[in-house]
Amino acid sequence: MAYYGDGGHFMSSPVEDIQYNPFSPEVLADPAAAHKELREKCPVHAFREHQPFFTSLSRHEDVLAALKNIDVFSSQWGQGPGRKPAIALFSDPPNHTKFRRLVNTSFTPRAAMVLEPMITALVEELVNSMSAQPGNRADLHDLLAMPLPVIVIARMLGVPEDMRDTFKEWSDSQLQGMNMVDPEREIAARRAMSEYLINEVNKRRDLIALGRDLPNDLISELTQAAMSHDDPLSDAEMLSMLVQILVGGNETTTSLITNLVWRLLQDRSRWNEVVNNPELIDVAIEESLRFDPPVLGLYRTTTCPVTMSGTEIPGDEKVMVLYASANRDPAAWEDPDTFRLDRDLNQLRRHLSFGFGLHVCPGAALSRTETRIALRKLIELFPTLELDGEPERIETFLLWGKRTLPVKW
Ligand code: HEM
Repeated sequence: MAYYGDGGHFMSSPVEDIQYNPFSPEVLADPAAAHKELREKCPVHAFREHQPFFTSLSRHEDVLAALKNIDVFSSQWGQGPGRKPAIALFSDPPNHTKFRRLVNTSFTPRAAMVLEPMITALVEELVNSMSAQPGNRADLHDLLAMPLPVIVIARMLGVPEDMRDTFKEWSDSQLQGMNMVDPEREIAARRAMSEYLINEVNKRRDLIALGRDLPNDLISELTQAAMSHDDPLSDAEMLSMLVQILVGGNETTTSLITNLVWRLLQDRSRWNEVVNNPELIDVAIEESLRFDPPVLGLYRTTTCPVTMSGTEIPGDEKVMVLYASANRDPAAWEDPDTFRLDRDLNQLRRHLSFGFGLHVCPGAALSRTETRIALRKLIELFPTLELDGEPERIETFLLWGKRTLPVKW
């Protein structure tokens, strides 16, 4: 049960200057410990060893307030630590509203339900290939968690299956671009992906011009909607939306699946509990999202100076809004640092792992559906599943998930 007590927040302003560097190996290895220190000692933390400078918000109250206050915490300059000009969904209303409406029509909970039979068949195929591995051991990341969302989104977009690995490579390099270590790789991948996608959009435009039927997929839907709009979308805007759908849903859903299975297997009594009580699957998924958010935080940019928890943040400052830290704040959650399967499902859904407000994730229902179907199949087929060594973390500092998950049964 969650509560909104004082939770030990007795200071009104930061009292200590702490050494917090989100790119350091210690923070990358254990972001939750670093977030705890931030909340307790310096909830509004200015990080000056990055260009541009940025501030981090770590308390639940501040994170939620920032996500609600879109006038001051703008999305105009991108979701990462660098500055990117506003385009399509990376923007504020009224511009954002137009693009969000287009996305909302395709990503409804009903649309996720309609996809269930396809996702179930795909999960069966992937899990069967896992169970056929010699020696009863496999990498669950490579054989299930990674391909599942990539294939689902590729099918939704209407991208052929043999493009799957290329898509995954494009998508990963966009996310690694947020680390700003290999901008050339990001640029090259974006160029290749853009050429491919715009070519697909143009094929649909030609079919529309010829009065021919379009393939039944998301690229067709968006192309049609964009052309019939009073204010038609430019190529750059179409591309931005398609890329965000592609990149936003892949590694995040993979991380949800790896984080969930990893936590359940870390203490096998949890795995056994879910095996014996499959009705706990939804609670396990939400608790995994709360405890191990695939996206630790994203950025906003302040439009004017603003005071949070007693500290002034300058105007025009990049601000990292830490959903992960909000999810572990004792002011909002009881016993936040324990992974528990006895939490109330409705209370749990208050976690901020899909964001909040205008930019809240439109793919939440889809990723929950994929994960639910995958976990159900795993507990059915592998009740004796165990970890087979330590998994490795994905690299991007803003994300939290595994790039390997060795298991045996
Ligand atoms: C576990 C899986 C996922 C997680 C943890 C996640 C997380 C998030 C978060 C935190 C945001 C908020 C961004 C902000 O506040 O600026 C977001 C937005 C978004 N997500 Fe997801 N996401 C997931 C899956 C997906 C999927 C499957 C798709 C699509 C196929 C998707 C597409 C998007 C898009 C297009 C936005 C931008 C919405 C906007 O700015 O209005 N996500 N996601």
